Order: sequence, then C-alpha cells, then structure tokens
Amino acid sequence: MDGIRIRPITKEDTADIVRWRNTPAVQNNLFSRETLTPQHHLQWLQTKVDTGLCHQFIIVARQDGREMPIGTIFIKNIDQSSHKGEFGIFIGEAAARGKGYGTLAIEKILQYAFDVLTLNRVYLSVFADNAGAVHLYEKIGFAKEGLLREEFFDGTGYRDVWLMGILKKEWDTRRAG
Ligand SMILES: CC(C)(COP(=O)(O)OP(=O)(O)OC[C@H]1O[C@@H](n2cnc3c(N)ncnc32)[C@H](O)[C@@H]1OP(=O)(O)O)[C@@H](O)C(=O)NCCC(=O)NCCS
Repeated sequence: MDGIRIRPITKEDTADIVRWRNTPAVQNNLFSRETLTPQHHLQWLQTKVDTGLCHQFIIVARQDGREMPIGTIFIKNIDQSSHKGEFGIFIGEAAARGKGYGTLAIEKILQYAFDVLTLNRVYLSVFADNAGAVHLYEKIGFAKEGLLREEFFDGTGYRDVWLMGILKKEWDTRRAG
C-alpha cells in the first residue's frame, strides 16, 4: 500500500460516484436506497457541495506510481453554530477495500474537520450489522453514543443503527499519543 490523498470532488467524478453508489455492497450500507442518477448527483453537488453544507472529497489511492479514484468521503450537515458535522465514507472499488485506505482517509478528513473547518464534534450513523465499519470507527476513536433500535426498514426487516461521535479534544489526545 502506497497511501492515499483526498481531493475535492468535481462534476467530472459523477460517473464514478454513480457507479460506486449503485453497487450492492455500498447501497446496502447507506440509508438512501434509491438508484442514484447522474442528475440526482449533480443536484447534490449544486445544493450541498457548492453551498458549503457538505465538504466532499474523492479518495485517490496511489499504487506503483499510479493514482486511482476509489471512493468518497465527506462532512455534511455542517452546523456552524454548534461546530459539528456529519461524517460519511464509502470505498466504491471493491478491490480497494480492506487495504487500510479507509483508515487513512478518515484520519485525513478528521484532521480537516477539526483543523480547517474548526468543528468541535463529528458524528455518524452506521448500521449495527456493518461490523467492519463499526470496528473501524471505534479504532479511529469514535465512541458509540446510542443504539437506535429497529431504526431502518429495508424492505424485508428492521435494522439497528449506532450513533457514534468523536470530539475535538478526543482527537487531539489521540494525535498527541
Ligand atoms: C467500511 C469501509 C469504509 C472501510 O474501509 P476499508 O478501507 O475497507 O477499511 P480498512 O482497510 O481501513 O480497515 C479498517 C479496519 O476495519 C476492518 N474492516 C473493514 N471492513 C471490514 C469488514 N467488511 N469486515 C470486517 N472487518 C472490516 C479491518 O479489518 C480493519 O481492522 P483492523 O485494522 O483492526 O484489522 C469500506 O469497506 C466501505 O466503504 N465499505 C462499503 C460501504 C460502507 O460500508 N460504508 C460505510 C457506511 S457507514
């Protein structure tokens, strides 16, 4: 593994985002279930990203001197009065999962959220049955803050959802350690 960088999303990333978002491994772990169209995504860019409500990045992996976009990571619902924002990530390229790229990307976006956006709190929601993601978030330093029992009906059954969060002081302590 050579590492990753994150760069701001552009309109040119639309085809990748649409392809990634509509694969079952990603779709099954997101709260929005409808098939994403390029039009929907362009509307998202216009209303959320261009307005600064969401700071969204493309995760670019470096391997053997080559760069490849593998997923996206973002802080959305940015609340400037309470200094908080909601985190999200997906690695869309199946071959890029489980290689440590998600860990590296989350470290970068938390640094951005706390240092550049000067947030005090970053929070997320994750399906409780997404054990890999829950494990990863705890490893990074997110605390489980509450379990929303049977929060989401996916058409066949109810799924529990963990609310998780990390505070700036906790991130600073981890960085210093
Ligand atoms: C969840 C996700 C972001 C993790 O990114 P990643 O690059 O695959 O994760 P990493 O390689 O950095 O792994 C980090 C840790 O999580 C664990 N992990 C990740 N996915 C896992 C899985 N499916 N099952 C078990 N463990 C998993 C790894 O074992 C590793 O733990 P370790 O360091 O103690 O061994 C990525 O797999 C993904 O996008 N999955 C599909 C969509 C999704 O679930 N998004 C999150 C919605 S909340």
